[in-house]
Amino acid sequence: MLMKNPTDTITYPAHIAPLNPYIPGVPIADLARRKKIDPGKIAKLASNENPLGPSPAALQALAAKNIDFSRYPDNNCTELVSALALFHDVPEEWIVIGAGSESVIANTVATVLAEGRKTAYSQFSFQAYINAAQKVGAQHIVVPSPEFVVDLDALYSVVDQDPSLIYIANPGNPTGTCLNPGDLMDFMSKIPKHIVVLLDEAYFEFLPDSFRPDSIVWVRLFPNLIITRTFSKAYGLAGLRIGYGIAQQGLADMLRRVRPPFTVSESAQIAAIAALQDTTFLENTLRINQESKSLLTDGLRARGYRYLESETNFLLVNVGDGVAWTRAMEKHGLIVRPVNSYGLPAWVRISLGMPDEMRRLFDAMDTFTPNSVEDVSL
Ligand SMILES: Cc1ncc(COP(=O)(O)O)c(C=O)c1O
Repeated sequence: MLMKNPTDTITYPAHIAPLNPYIPGVPIADLARRKKIDPGKIAKLASNENPLGPSPAALQALAAKNIDFSRYPDNNCTELVSALALFHDVPEEWIVIGAGSESVIANTVATVLAEGRKTAYSQFSFQAYINAAQKVGAQHIVVPSPEFVVDLDALYSVVDQDPSLIYIANPGNPTGTCLNPGDLMDFMSKIPKHIVVLLDEAYFEFLPDSFRPDSIVWVRLFPNLIITRTFSKAYGLAGLRIGYGIAQQGLADMLRRVRPPFTVSESAQIAAIAALQDTTFLENTLRINQESKSLLTDGLRARGYRYLESETNFLLVNVGDGVAWTRAMEKHGLIVRPVNSYGLPAWVRISLGMPDEMRRLFDAMDTFTPNSVEDVSL
């Protein structure tokens, strides 16, 4: 006989209801429908995607393979793991593949955190990480970031509160700011080895040489470090959902235990292997990114906007009222990202698109006065 819940209501763990669903950038089709704009005329500058599209080598590799979609993909991602191990000169056992680096991040959280355990991270950290940690009921130690850069001293100072997992994105999202490699190395050297450090390097490829840490070397030195990288940004494969983590075998083996099966499609694996070798595409991506960054920063300065120096493919810009500004841009077929959910209601995050998309942004901006919500026609 079925026992009835006396109140007939579903009960949930206490930490579930306060969760906020992740809010992604508005999809092009969504805005096209809402504003009756030709989707081809919309520029999406909201999710830090690659404006050049996917790596051509990845597209060629996909076209050349006759993928049998009736079969499950290779759950071990054997060929991609080999390619990445070779690329980074690490043992294959150190590589953990995920459906986007977000899923490696979530698996790290699921491996290390639980109710009663604590995580420490900087204010203005990537929302998906915070959500993942909230989902498992962990306690949060949030370190202030008044300068919009991760304060490593402040983060170290909370070690005595016994966090199990410390999260650092370098460069960070939504700030776009990065850390000095020497400071990060010092931080890692000081952190007790029972505390796992997750170094999220989703935007690693955009870092200039002087700011590029030897993070693979650090993985060799520190068994409590996991770095995550993605094919979504510089490699242009966001839609295929593929990313990876690198950690020493002890930690990597634990992650493999919680990793859901078959989340990485055969297409994603094939495309990622090809994209990894496509150095021409990567160079083009970085060149266009630099060009658009110069254009956007010059244009913002000329118009009196404040923005943060960024080492990524996006800029955090103070516009007065982020939501109102975003709505105003939508009228011009431009999708940017308000960041009020990060506690930054005055700011928007603008992805660096193609140079002509940056010019379109200026044309739209010039229809109203910066930092004046009243002038923004909603
Ligand atoms: C800092 C940071 N980490 C991780 C990710 C996750 O990217 P993906 O899951 O597409 O690899 C993003 C995506 O925007 C990000 O900004």
